[in-house]
Amino acid sequence: MRMHGVRRYRILSLAPMLSQLPVLLCESDFPKKVVDKMKIGSVALDNITVLAPLAGITNLPFRLLAKEAGCALVCSEMISSHGLVYNSVKTHELLRSQPAEKPLSVQIFGSDRSLMAQAATIVESSGADILDINLGCAVKKVLKSGSGAALMKEPRKVEKILQAIRRTVKIPLTVKIRTGWDSSGGQALKIAEIAQACGVDAITVHPRTAIQGFRGKADWSLIAAIKNTASIPVIGNGDIVRPEDVLKMQNQTGCDAVMIGRAAIGNPWIFSQALELIRNNKVSLPDPSRRFEVMIQYVKFSVTYFGEQRAIRMMRSRLGWFVKGLRYSSRFRESIKQISTQKDALCRIEEYRSFFIDKIQQLNQCG
Ligand SMILES: Cc1cc2nc3c(=O)[nH]c(=O)nc-3n(C[C@H](O)[C@H](O)[C@H](O)COP(=O)(O)O)c2cc1C
Repeated sequence: MRMHGVRRYRILSLAPMLSQLPVLLCESDFPKKVVDKMKIGSVALDNITVLAPLAGITNLPFRLLAKEAGCALVCSEMISSHGLVYNSVKTHELLRSQPAEKPLSVQIFGSDRSLMAQAATIVESSGADILDINLGCAVKKVLKSGSGAALMKEPRKVEKILQAIRRTVKIPLTVKIRTGWDSSGGQALKIAEIAQACGVDAITVHPRTAIQGFRGKADWSLIAAIKNTASIPVIGNGDIVRPEDVLKMQNQTGCDAVMIGRAAIGNPWIFSQALELIRNNKVSLPDPSRRFEVMIQYVKFSVTYFGEQRAIRMMRSRLGWFVKGLRYSSRFRESIKQISTQKDALCRIEEYRSFFIDKIQQLNQCG
């Protein structure tokens, strides 16, 4: 029986399909690894890759995909300390976890020392392995409340918050910072020094100023500068686009681990590719059929976590992340706008998958 809608993916040319084949890209010329394991306090990581906290994205289903792809440490999206302490149901939902994703780092934001310490206790009791403090969010609403990157201007306040939290929780504590408000890097170095003195176990550096947002280039030299002065592990972050960038950042900065954010959206195999590179000095493109398996997993994980109605509403745009750059992906994106059940979602994925696999077989027969 022909799958409904398959016909819509009419092939105009076979040449672009070649780029979807699992090809070994290169075996040499990649930077050599520096280290491939690390520890954050008592938590040992299997490798040096970390999934960045991404608000609205790094929920449990998404983190499970990253974990399956080999990511050593996954992070929750930022969670409001106020929402945790005042028992917001939606906020508490963000703490849900599964053993399969462990170790898990949970990030909180806020500016009130006492609320932050209370929220830290809630996070610890939820079973999180690591607590991360957001000192880098540059979203207007967060800055206005004096949280996130706004705290980079107030080293004394940061010190008091970190001391209060350190006194309260036993799990490893980390902070995620930006360059600060000016581009000198002075504020980041100062906060790193304070964090270390307060008993923080690792520091993540996204070297852009608060005003920059995501514009311009991340200044990796600041990661190197902090690594040179700190005795706690430093996690480098910013502008990892391809698996090769993981080693490039580690080589250029000496950082202990590398955090990947935007490049992991719809592309969890960036973790498996980075690991292949670290371990075998080569990197392969993801097998096309694997891409579709991951999409199916994402639908199923999301339905389990959010319930069918809410999950499928989310899938209408999110499944499109996974086919970016693929031929005829716009037709797939169009087709998923109408889905209303898990069955619909899986059918649309299957249509697009069988279209792809057929075409690849045709190419193999031609070749
Ligand atoms: C959609 C989106 C949401 C984000 N949410 C958070 C967050 O909740 N907490 C945080 O510390 N950083 C957050 N960030 C920043 C990322 O964690 C990361 O520092 C930044 O994207 C740079 O890394 P990248 O170049 O690998 O994306 C977010 C970034 C994006 C694009």
